[in-house]
Amino acid sequence: MRHLMSPLDFTTEELERLFDLAGDIERNPEKYAHACEGKILATCFYEPSTRTRLSFESAMTRLGGRVIGFSDAGSSSAAKGESVSDTIRVISCYADICAIRHPKEGAPMVAAEKSGIPVINAGDGGHQHPTQTLTDLLTIRSLNGKLSGFTLGLCGDLKFGRTVHSLINALVRYDNIRFIFISPEELKVPDYITDMLKERQIPYEEVIRLEDVMPQLDLLYMTRVQKERFFNEEDYVRLKDFYILDSNKMKLAKEKMLVLHPLPRVNEISVEVDEDPRASYFRQAQYGVYVRMALILTLLNIKI
Ligand code: NCD
Repeated sequence: MRHLMSPLDFTTEELERLFDLAGDIERNPEKYAHACEGKILATCFYEPSTRTRLSFESAMTRLGGRVIGFSDAGSSSAAKGESVSDTIRVISCYADICAIRHPKEGAPMVAAEKSGIPVINAGDGGHQHPTQTLTDLLTIRSLNGKLSGFTLGLCGDLKFGRTVHSLINALVRYDNIRFIFISPEELKVPDYITDMLKERQIPYEEVIRLEDVMPQLDLLYMTRVQKERFFNEEDYVRLKDFYILDSNKMKLAKEKMLVLHPLPRVNEISVEVDEDPRASYFRQAQYGVYVRMALILTLLNIKI
């Protein structure tokens, strides 16, 4: 039995197969419409979510399966003091696969240890968000043509943004990628990540102004300042609008630069950018469904 805790749980070859499968699902959805008939996905969300939970639910429904779960820890037995380990043992009796999101880093791992069914980490605190990374990789592979040989700018809250941490982790296995980290001093990417890059001799730069590096970027990954992980409101208010990508800044970018964002967006991308053909974040959300369909089939070992 396999779980997904980190994007590194799959080899790059396994990821290629997963993305090929996602591509086939995109082209031939009817072929997969009954693939999970009789199967149940449990979504256990101890933290707010729109996209991740609904894209999992949509993925399982489009595969002909069913979904049970909760979207608020307050309405689950966690409110009575039940541990994640006990909850997952019980859910293993009700479902065939489970996606879990939790504010505590490592909670999905604890669940996986006691689980009788495959567990997918749907985001654990500021740590990892592997299914968003699979979405990001599939989007880059589909729209950029390849997963190597580009300069990627990551902009915004690089300290608390788990999608950023997961994506960097996953990309270091591909060739010729240059990272440019764009953040205010207080929201810099954690040391464990820059240490890992240094160790692997992967080039990176840290800058504060987006405008200074915009012309170099092949991809720009914008992120929201993670309000819920701040210790005080004042710091959040001071930093929340540090970056706003607008049409003027887009004029500095390459003609083919792709703008990605895991969403939800707050103010960091002005809505006028949505009409720019380089804005790819809504297509990215669509890829999130195909890749989760492919992941469910893979973890349940269902072949079509
Ligand atoms: C992200 C998350 O939950 O980390 N959202 C998502 O799953 N698409 C990004 C965010 O909340 O900013």
